[in-house]
Order: sequence, then C-alpha cells, then structure tokens
Amino acid sequence: MSRLLVTGGAGFIGSNFVHHVVRRTDHHVTVLDALTYAGNRASLEGVPEDRMTFVRGDISDARLVDELVSLADSVVHFAAESHNDNSLAEPRPFLDTNVVGTFTLLEAVRRHDRRFHHISTDEVYGDLELDDPERFTETTPYNPSSPYSSTKAASDLLVRAWVRSFGVRATLSNCSNNYGPFQHVEKFIPRQITNVLEGTRPKLYGAGANVRDWIHADDHSAAVLLILERGEIGETYLVGADGERSNKEVVELILELMGEDPQAYDHVVDRAGHDLRYAIDSTKLRRELGWEPVYSDFPAGLTATIRWYRENAQWWRPAKRATEEFYQARGQ
Ligand code: NAD
Ligand code: DAU
Repeated sequence: MSRLLVTGGAGFIGSNFVHHVVRRTDHHVTVLDALTYAGNRASLEGVPEDRMTFVRGDISDARLVDELVSLADSVVHFAAESHNDNSLAEPRPFLDTNVVGTFTLLEAVRRHDRRFHHISTDEVYGDLELDDPERFTETTPYNPSSPYSSTKAASDLLVRAWVRSFGVRATLSNCSNNYGPFQHVEKFIPRQITNVLEGTRPKLYGAGANVRDWIHADDHSAAVLLILERGEIGETYLVGADGERSNKEVVELILELMGEDPQAYDHVVDRAGHDLRYAIDSTKLRRELGWEPVYSDFPAGLTATIRWYRENAQWWRPAKRATEEFYQARGQ
C-alpha cells in the first residue's frame, strides 16, 4: 500500500484516475483540489471513505502543500487551468496555477524527497500540418501556441530542471485529447453532446478541419499508473492511442450516434491561433513499459460517453448555462 497525493483529483482526468487507482490498487489517495469552476466533488462519489481523503486547497499554498507532500509517498500532479479558450480570455490564472503551482509542488517534493509524476499535454509541441507524415515524439522541440500550452510547457521545463539540478525523482507524460465521463461541458465533445441533449445545434470552430488525437481517459489513467510504478526517473513518455479525427468528423459522428441529422450543426468564429493538428507517436511507452490502449474503438467509446451524459444531467447541467454564455459573448 502506498500513499498517493493527487492534485486536481476533482477534475476530469484526475477523478477518472482516482477511480482507476481505487479499482486497480490498494493505494490510499489524498486529493488536493481547489474546486475551481472546473472541479466537482461529485465526480469522486462512490470512492470508499477509507480509500480517499479530500482536501480543498490551492497548489500554490506552500504551507499546505508542504504538509500534504510530507505525508505522501508519491505525488501525481493533474491540477491545472486546462482550457485554451479561457486562457485566451484571461491568461493570469494559467500562470498562477500551471507555473507557480507546479513550482510550489516541486519545492515540496524536493524538500521531502518524494516521487513526482507531472501530467502534461501534447500541446507543448505546437501543431502539425494536416498532411505531415510525422507525429510528435519525446524529442520533438517545444513550440507552444496558446497561453495555456505555453504555461504547460513552462511547467514541464521546471520539472526537468528540478530533476537535473536538484535530483528530484520525477517523470513526465504528455498526452493527447482525452474524452470520457466527468469532462466539463466547456470542452468540445461534452459541449456538443449536451447541446444535442438540450435541443441546441453543435458548434464547430471555423471549417472544422483541425485534427485531434482522441484517447479515452481510462487509457490515460492506466498509462500514468504504469509510469508511476515502472517509469524511469527523468524520462518523458508520450501517451496517445492513434485516434486522429477531424473536428468535423467528430461532430458528425456525435449527431449520427444521437439519432440526429449529421449536418445539423453551425460553423462559428474560429479560435485565435487555433492549432491545426496534434498526433502522438507513443512507441516509447508501448515498447518500454508495455502499455496498450483498451478503448481502440472510438465510436464505441463515444457511444458510452454519450450514454453517460444522457444519464448524468444532474452532474453537468449546473455548469451549462454559464459555459454557453461565455461562448455566446465570443461568437462561438
Ligand atoms: P480540468 O480542468 O477538468 O481539471 C483541473 C482540476 O484542477 C480541477 O478539479 C480544478 O479544481 C483543479 N485546480 C485548478 N487550479 C487549481 C489550484 N490552483 N489548486 C488546486 N487545484 C486546482 O482538467 P483536465 O482536463 O482533467 O486536465 C488535467 C491535467 O491533464 C492538466 O494538467 C492538463 O493540462 C492535462 N491534460 C489534459 C488533457 C485533456 O484532454 N483534457 C490532455 C492532456 C493533458
Ligand atoms: O491535446 C491535449 C489538450 O486537449 C489538453 O492539453 C487540453 O487541456 C484540452 O482542453 C484539449 O485541448 P483542445 O483545445 O484540443 O480541446 P477542446 O475540447 O477545447 O477543443 C477540441 C477541438 O475542438 C479544438 O480544435 C477546438 C474545437 N472546438 C472546441 C469547442 C469547445 C470546436 O470546434 N467547437 C467547440 O465548441
């Protein structure tokens, strides 16, 4: 039994990870989460009380972080401001949480010599042309485009520097776009599913040719647990499930799976600086640690996700109106 401190455990991927860990291991989890607009305590319902302690707090609170890190064996760091559109509207919280928050955690794990795993994104590598045969690998140069991705890139570089300069025992993973239950309705897939459920037309930015490389959140969780257990200190692992699809394809598939006319969506104002394509080569993770995704059938994973949003309206409805007001004000 090991004691894990999971930051951002009430968010989308963090909560999926906590459920995964509780199902698959006997570890005890302490969640540290500020419950921002993106965090939801209800996402952790069903986790047995003796397996998890929930602490509401900020990862930039050095005193609190120091105490919680001292009580843990390992730290898995998911907490972040995670949405590109928000980072274009108001960048400041992204610097505070993604940069200063990560710095605060690194200082604590350094002081207490704790194992640290940093969750990051493929967006640190910038974007690829639609017809580029290359995909991102662990050696692709950093070239972030948005305030969000540049703060994630900064946090990755801090982790690497703390490994090299101070001997912190850390690993990093950079994953592609996740989908699955408990994802906030601001994000692409849940926004379109809940629009259809509310009788509103889905909204596609620009022409919708942009490509994202989709992976189910549970496959991401399995990869993170494996890296935590068997990853080599100082190493970065790219996590992706060969799930490239254009946004147009995804929106049409959602409409079709929900029994609607696949063309019944609107084109809206494009995102500023919109990355064209992300694509991950996860050979290193597969070869060195033996990871394989379980959810290889995207339409099946999407069908299950649609069912989850249909059956859990009480979870997403409170956030829907404010989210749509934000988008409407931006013409999106
Ligand atoms: P999310 O926005 O759903 O959740 C973020 C969580 O962090 C929330 O529970 C929020 O309350 C918490 N949080 C925010 N600021 C905090 C602070 N200062 N102190 C403590 N808690 C705070 O995000 P997500 O989509 O689950 O992403 C989780 C991590 O995975 C992020 O680091 C993100 O960069 C990374 N990531 C996300 C994706 C994706 O597709 N969503 C893909 C690759 C990597
Ligand atoms: O690649 C990993 C990243 O994936 C993570 O680091 C981020 O935290 C996560 O939010 C996600 O970033 P994206 O910007 O790719 O995800 P988002 O869901 O915001 O948008 C996915 C694509 O869909 C993107 O090309 C923009 C487009 N889009 C989005 C919304 C909300 C639309 O066309 N319409 C929409 O309404």
